[in-house]
Amino acid sequence: LQRGALERDLAGRHVVVSAGGTREPLDPVRFLGNRSSGKQGYALAATAAARGARVTLVAANTELPAPAGVDVVRAGTARQLREAVLRAAEDADAVVMAAAVADFRPAEYASGKIKKVDGIEPAPIALVRNPDILAEVAADRAHDGQLVVGFAAETDDVLANGRAKLARKGCDLLVVNEVGDGKAFGQDTNSAVLLGADGTEVHIADGPKDILADAIWDQVVARLPRHSA
Ligand code: CTP
Ligand code: CA
Repeated sequence: LQRGALERDLAGRHVVVSAGGTREPLDPVRFLGNRSSGKQGYALAATAAARGARVTLVAANTELPAPAGVDVVRAGTARQLREAVLRAAEDADAVVMAAAVADFRPAEYASGKIKKVDGIEPAPIALVRNPDILAEVAADRAHDGQLVVGFAAETDDVLANGRAKLARKGCDLLVVNEVGDGKAFGQDTNSAVLLGADGTEVHIADGPKDILADAIWDQVVARLPRHSA
């Protein structure tokens, strides 16, 4: 399984990995966020660097040490993450969206702290949709042969949901995690199914996140077009 790490089979490639979870501010002290730790994205960045890639890691609200030899770009919100990913993707051979991107953000940002007022119930928080970065990267590929990988955290009918999401997003690979009951989020291990748009289905048993990361890079490497020069 570690074969690829020794081969440096990503040498000469630029890969972009997003990690962590976006935070959507409500006022200067509050945000809507999620429980993504960023560990899987960091494992992807570290393993890609070990396999010889130039790596841009777009990190959203993570507290992990930067992997050696990786360029880290910080992004707070979904819109900032979109800007950073699209810019880095321009010359990328592969883009892996491991970040948990908030689907919605507060419709309005209060520039002053929202205060409670005696005798008045709080107003509901109106939300608007964030851009779908993965779908956008997949639809507007920076160049032919660019590989686009998404993640999906699913409950219930995990595989059927994953297949539908793969088709909807238009990406080449979808890494499907089963979540809930302490699975995946914030944990050091992960099990997953790697679904390919070409119909492949690779099951990865529960194990360290760098083992899953290497399995994902194996699937990416197998699909990358040969170096042009
Ligand atoms: N994603 C993204 N931009 C968004 C939302 C999600 O790029 N605004 C990416 C995530 O990084 C992940 C993939 O899309 O790689 C799937 O995220 P997920 O939340 O599972 O999919 P959604 O399309 O948001 O569907 P759901 O309604 O199930 O949350
Ligand atoms: Ca979502």
